[in-house]
Amino acid sequence: MNIIIINGPNLNLLGTREPEIYGGRTFEDYLAELQQKYPGIKLSYFQSNIEGELISKIQEANAGQNAIILNAAAYTHTSIGIADAIKAIDIPVVEVHISNTFSRETYRHQSFLSPVASGVVIGFGLKGYELALQSLIP
Ligand code: DQA
Repeated sequence: MNIIIINGPNLNLLGTREPEIYGGRTFEDYLAELQQKYPGIKLSYFQSNIEGELISKIQEANAGQNAIILNAAAYTHTSIGIADAIKAIDIPVVEVHISNTFSRETYRHQSFLSPVASGVVIGFGLKGYELALQSLIP
C-alpha cells in the first residue's frame, strides 16, 4: 500500500515553530519513526510552502498512491484550489491538523477541505498522522 503525507506551509519548521502549539519534534524525525513502525506501507512525504505545488502533488498522487494524508496548514482555511484538487482525484484524502484548530482563532475554524476529505483528524499532535494512517489500513 502506497500512502503519501503532504504537508503545507510552515510545517517544514516543525521543531522550532511555536513549540508550545506544535511540539518540539521535527517532522523528519517523526516520519522515520512512522516508517519503521509500519514497514508494510510505502510511506512517502512531500512538503511545500507553495499552494500550486501542493495542488500538483495531489493530482500526481492519484496515479500510484492509494491515499493521501494531508495537512494543508494555513491553506486549509483559504484554498478552494486544494479543495478542487481533492474533488478531482479518486483516492481518499485524510485531513490532519496537529493543533486543535477549533480551540484557536475563529479564522482557523473554517476548512475548505473537510467537506471533501474522507475523514479529519484534529488536535492530537503529531500522533494525528498515525491515526490517519491507521484509518487507511484495511
Ligand atoms: C495546522 C493548523 C493551521 O491553522 C495552521 O495554519 C498550521 C498548522 C495544524 O496542523 O495544526 O500551519 O494545520
